[in-house]
Amino acid sequence: MKKHTLPALALTACLAQAVMAADQPTTITVQAGAPGKPISPDLFGIFFEDLNYSADGGLYAELVQNRSFEYAMVEQPSWNNLTAWELQQRGGQGGVVVEYGVPLNANNPHYAVLEIRKPGDVALVNSGFDGIPVKAGEKYDVSLFARQLYIGGRWGSENRHGALPLAVRLEGADGAVLGEAKFDVTERAWKPFSATITASKTDPKARLAVVGSVPGGIALDEISLFPEKTFHNRPNGLRADLAQIIADLHPKFVRFPGGCLTHGNGLPNLYRWKDTIGPIEQRKGQPNLWGYHQSVGLGYYEYFQFCEDIGAKPLPVVAAGVSCQNSGHMAGIGQQAIPMEDMPVYIQDVLDLIEWANGPVTSKWGAKRAAAGHPEPFGLQYLGIGNEDHITPEFNQRFKMIFDAVKKAHPEITVVGTVGPSPAGFDYDEGWKTATELKVPIVDEHYYQKPEWFLTNGGRYDGYDRAKSKVYVGEYASRGNTLFNALAEAAYMTSLERNGDVVHMASYAPLLAKVGHTQWTPDLIYFTNEGVFPTVNYYVQALFGRNSGDCWLPSKIDPASKDLAVSAVRDSKSGDLVLKLVNTSREPMPLRIALDGSTKLPASATATVLTGDPGAKNDAGNAPAVTPKTAPLAVGPTFAYAAPASSLTIIRIPFH
Ligand code: AHR
Repeated sequence: MKKHTLPALALTACLAQAVMAADQPTTITVQAGAPGKPISPDLFGIFFEDLNYSADGGLYAELVQNRSFEYAMVEQPSWNNLTAWELQQRGGQGGVVVEYGVPLNANNPHYAVLEIRKPGDVALVNSGFDGIPVKAGEKYDVSLFARQLYIGGRWGSENRHGALPLAVRLEGADGAVLGEAKFDVTERAWKPFSATITASKTDPKARLAVVGSVPGGIALDEISLFPEKTFHNRPNGLRADLAQIIADLHPKFVRFPGGCLTHGNGLPNLYRWKDTIGPIEQRKGQPNLWGYHQSVGLGYYEYFQFCEDIGAKPLPVVAAGVSCQNSGHMAGIGQQAIPMEDMPVYIQDVLDLIEWANGPVTSKWGAKRAAAGHPEPFGLQYLGIGNEDHITPEFNQRFKMIFDAVKKAHPEITVVGTVGPSPAGFDYDEGWKTATELKVPIVDEHYYQKPEWFLTNGGRYDGYDRAKSKVYVGEYASRGNTLFNALAEAAYMTSLERNGDVVHMASYAPLLAKVGHTQWTPDLIYFTNEGVFPTVNYYVQALFGRNSGDCWLPSKIDPASKDLAVSAVRDSKSGDLVLKLVNTSREPMPLRIALDGSTKLPASATATVLTGDPGAKNDAGNAPAVTPKTAPLAVGPTFAYAAPASSLTIIRIPFH
């Protein structure tokens, strides 16, 4: 058989070429002096949904689980009204029952009755969400509603009057008392009690004990414990460390409350914003379709306030008059539609939301916002209608009704529609058809795909019709938390900046996941009761969030490389030019960067680099393996930079 050998001369020539190619830096030419193309001011934001225990047991700082005795079997088969509570006879004798006869209000129908039959301590003990973490010297606000039912024995006690003492104790896992408040329950009507307890010791697994000792019966409800130090010290506030790490993303907007949570598990489970405002004991909790309970203590007021606190625009999403198509365990075919005769009331709820957020204090709903402590309008600009719904005739009919009503009453509001759960397919096509017909300003696209999809679909929006609806990439993730995943997302995000004229908004999903209660992976930030663990993907989001620009500048890569994604933006406020370089190859990439056409000289710059083993992850519980590092970088009109293997580099260049 004839051997195919390369002549020696040709081989030498090939090798020489290869060496030259490796030595020859890739040139990136940025039109630094060009006027550029405007980028949406709200491009990168976040999507918050209460799944993975993100709200109750997570961002919402409440430390007592099942505070209003409303947990139920429909949420988890082993759950009941006393889940997370335990009765302990501590010298006395007594019991606990769940009652519904004289509730605090109709939205909070169940309560506990603590009965002391023989003198001595009888305690109702709450174990929190995996324990109650307390720190020595920190203050905790305890509050509850109580009502004296009888003194002594239950029967024949109508003429006995006096006080029933109630102690509320923070207790360590070993039972040691870490702090205590004392109340006297004297009245037959519901009465609020509150106190502040200072923890004497640090304990990650403390408990809250509500202790009676004198024979009698006490009704108890809405038993709550908050750290005094919440984010921005808000009462009924958010866990400070979690809220801060979210704020550090510098999101331009927050989409909430879901996701599937918004359109719910069947019509009775739609997320109703009106159930989530007002005093916490009057809010109407309900099952969370992710398999637990939503207290809605983190409700619309808290969402809007959080947005304001972190300088992000609120993007509430309401159901489009239909429930999730996966409702009732019927994947894809479980969509239920609000009966037509009920649609006017539903639409009014949507209009009321806008009035609640933006209306004057003299308006009905604006007055409720003011009563909650916020007389100034919240400045709502965006409203989402629908979440990746199945685009059925029922959906179309109801979406149009809501959309038309909002447009008519509030032309100032920008509506975000929905085009299904995937980057292509029936719901995507039909959703786009509806959006185009109705001229919906923005549509919400979702995709959870492999990293390779993100690397090969960077051109997705280059060809989008600029005359049609703009796009909100409301949920995306590359199905993993390795550095390679994060870089695939970073490369894709450079294409979102390039298309920042048609892609108006984008948010990674999901945002938060509690370790041990994670229902969906990957997520952006993992947390436990005591720690917060940002993923590598988080750092990509944070770097893009902190280094956004309002103007995209054309750039050219020569020779073109599938392993290199680049985006150059200008931040008009500071005048800085920000260059994002994503090298997804496993080799360093020598680059020659030319800043063409700038009339000013670049000043000394910084390079922030996220790099490491492409398979590396930041594991929850450990110090992060991959974090960005910033160092000064010498730059000129033309300069050299070697992009490390598997890296995202942000070069920030101020000008003289
Ligand atoms: O982000 C998790 C879920 O993914 C959202 O609730 C839903 O919109 C999507 O299917």
